[in-house]
Amino acid sequence: MNTIKTPDGALMFQKNLLQNKRILITGGGTGLGKAAAQRFLELGATVYICGRRHEVLAATEAELRDATGGTIHSRPCDVRDATQVEEMIETIWKDGPLDVLMNNAAGNFLARTEELSLRAFESVLGIVLMGTLHTTLACGRRWLKSGQSAVVLNITTTYTDSGSAYVVPSAVAKSGVQALTRSLAVEWGNRGIRMNAIAPGPVPTEGAFSRLLPRPELEDLAKKRIPLGRFGTAEEFANLAAFLVSDGSSYINGDTITMDGGEWLQGAGEFTALGRMLSEKEWEMMKPKKGSPAK
Ligand code: HXC
Ligand code: NAP
Repeated sequence: MNTIKTPDGALMFQKNLLQNKRILITGGGTGLGKAAAQRFLELGATVYICGRRHEVLAATEAELRDATGGTIHSRPCDVRDATQVEEMIETIWKDGPLDVLMNNAAGNFLARTEELSLRAFESVLGIVLMGTLHTTLACGRRWLKSGQSAVVLNITTTYTDSGSAYVVPSAVAKSGVQALTRSLAVEWGNRGIRMNAIAPGPVPTEGAFSRLLPRPELEDLAKKRIPLGRFGTAEEFANLAAFLVSDGSSYINGDTITMDGGEWLQGAGEFTALGRMLSEKEWEMMKPKKGSPAK
């Protein structure tokens, strides 16, 4: 991962931006969660990461500690299990309260909905929707009780409003997370808790791409849907996350920031797909003929 400089070398954040912030990232052992963990550490935060796989977490903890010299702790926890979540949060709070919760853990796969078992639905809904609820309630109740200000950052997708075929459990669950974000931003906002979301477009990670774009030609198709003509990067994601959890963004509450190179606008435009199929000759035929009166 790059430093906290932009590609042309400009400094993007002050190095102490997140000093004294204590941040939990669920699913922080891999992919986008790991990238955010690295950025938060570089900016001075104390970072906690959790996930189901102990060896993955331990490797990430060691790697990021070496890379940044920051303070990072990891702990196995299945966010689907409210008891495990409560125990993890209780343990963290013994060191001191968290300032930021980033709900990033997710499950997803490409499948035809009518072929899915109930357990398949429960698995994804359990991680994404119930997992987010478990951590948010465990932290939120503590913050409200002590009157502490805090930030929750939820990671959703660009199909929360539109829905999406072939990833229905994820679409249902992420829409629920978006509703939770908007609802609690209002209910808890006047008690010092801000809640926002990032909706990323495709960003290459092993976890997402192995399950959703398993063949190179599918990646090419996905890229063609993006006006900027490329996928996002984990660094771009981490920078946006750092901004949203910092005090510099303290008037943003209840919002979802889309980071997708314009993909959803192109996908949602009714005539976009049709327009892309027309040849030069067909476009010429669409133009009004010289001398023919406009009706
Ligand atoms: C159909 C499937 C399936 C698939 C699993 N199942 N994969 N059904 N198609 N591809 C079914 C199983 O058969 C089982 O049902 C049930 O789901 C649970 O499966 P398990 O393997 O036992 O579950 P578990 O070990 O808990 O794993 C959870 C998981 C897995 C969600 C299925 O994929 C996972 O661990 N994912 C975590 C990481 C991840 O998904 N990252 C991607 C995030 S990307 P039965 O009835 O047989 O018992 C993202 C947004 C991307 O969210 C947007 C891109 C633009
Ligand atoms: P990823 O690497 O697969 O990350 C998912 C993480 O969640 C893993 O570290 C996984 O670790 C953890 N996790 C899964 N189930 C869990 C559970 N029950 N309890 C605790 N942790 C669990 O994928 P990613 O691409 O970085 O995705 C990160 C976030 O970005 C997700 O919210 C995803 O929906 C969102 N997103 C990604 C993209 C993209 O293109 N990459 C696009 C849109 C949105 P374990 O397996 O060890 O538990």
